[in-house]
Amino acid sequence: MLSRCIFAASQNVLLHQRCSLFNVSRNAIKQSNPSRSFGSLTSKWRLTTSLVTKRLALCFSQIVRSPTTLATPSVSPQGQKAVGLWLLGCAGMTFGAIVIGAITRLTESGLSMTQWHVIKGMRPPRTQEEWEAEFERYKQFPEYKFLGRELDLDGFKNIFFWEYTHRMWGRSIALVFALPALFFLKKGWISKPMKPRLAIYFTLLGFQGLLGWYMVKSGLEGQDEKSVIPRVSQYRLSAHLGSAMVLYVLFLWSGLNHLLKAHQLPNTAQIARLRMGSHMGMSLIFLTAISGAFVAGLDAGLSYNTWPKMADRWVPSDMFRLSPKWKNILENSAMVQFNHRHLGEFTGTAMLGLWWLCRKAPLPPRAMMAANALAVMAVVQVGLGIATLLAFVPVHLAATHQSGAIMLLSCALWLGNELKKMPK
Ligand code: HEM
Repeated sequence: MLSRCIFAASQNVLLHQRCSLFNVSRNAIKQSNPSRSFGSLTSKWRLTTSLVTKRLALCFSQIVRSPTTLATPSVSPQGQKAVGLWLLGCAGMTFGAIVIGAITRLTESGLSMTQWHVIKGMRPPRTQEEWEAEFERYKQFPEYKFLGRELDLDGFKNIFFWEYTHRMWGRSIALVFALPALFFLKKGWISKPMKPRLAIYFTLLGFQGLLGWYMVKSGLEGQDEKSVIPRVSQYRLSAHLGSAMVLYVLFLWSGLNHLLKAHQLPNTAQIARLRMGSHMGMSLIFLTAISGAFVAGLDAGLSYNTWPKMADRWVPSDMFRLSPKWKNILENSAMVQFNHRHLGEFTGTAMLGLWWLCRKAPLPPRAMMAANALAVMAVVQVGLGIATLLAFVPVHLAATHQSGAIMLLSCALWLGNELKKMPK
């Protein structure tokens, strides 16, 4: 109760702080003229006491207020902090799922589990017989049949391990999300506007699992002997990565909202431009990552392994191999790689431009730290992309490049969060 009262006082003060506090003080000084009547002396006294009270309330609120209080006023600072850390934990776990997913794809492990059951699927084969039966089932599917894959049982156990870990990791995110959510709801630590959002996050988590299976299915069926390499559809792969990134962004953004206090930035066109720049940066990184998923889905990273030119040309000769022409954008590995590498370079340069503009603005140190991190990560990510290409897509570089995309997205999001408007 006490903390609520303090909080209400502090909100009131903060709301008026910028516009009225100093005007009030100036008025109070003006009214301290001794030639005034007794009435004006009492009003002066009232004003001074109210000013002192407001100042005291402000100091006190700043001592007791956690940096989160401004985000969702109805919840105690302790609750805000716990919820914020939990959401950051969920973001971290989603990041982990994206990295494990990359390793699963790059080690060609993604099609090793040929069935999907939410509960039964949690139990891996244990005995020799169970492993052999699982291996036999895998042998019936195109990846083994048509690829003529040289794989013994130990090799199969290896690829099974990555797909199993990826699926179990996904299930654990659902648990790490749902159980604390129930606890926090019971404690009253989830603010009113957060409640529908949590329902959306949970739905998205379920959708992510379904999309994962829908993607795997495309690699298990519909392939015939004409297919050179049985692989999952690049459309489904990019949808799976895209929705994982949406989930990650939502967790991270709301986690930071709970933990970081909004800055009182000047209301200028320069700050508004930077705010918009950070949001456009996020969208650009997102788009580049999706185009990267098309490269990965078509194994287009192996089609041209030179940089900056593609073979000896700036524009490869087979850019428009497919008909109708628009199909090349999504299905021709030459054009898909061409688009991704140039979009990646453009995005990297745009992030450096945003950093440059941030340097010229009066930003608080934490916001400047986010801008610096964004610039460093942009250079690293473009470097990783080029290295992945030149080295013919080795697992460690390609997985680091995919993780780098999420790190870059996080930096842009962090900057956007630092530049967010003060809640009214
Ligand atoms: C901001 C810059 C960039 C971002 C955000 C980005 C993002 C991504 C992502 C997310 C993937 C993997 C998608 C998946 O596995 O589903 C990917 C793949 C790839 N990217 Fe980039 N990329 C960037 C720049 C570049 C550049 C400049 C190059 C090369 C010049 C490049 C080359 C590649 C290659 C070859 C792959 C395929 C790797 C594989 O098969 O796993 N990227 N990119």
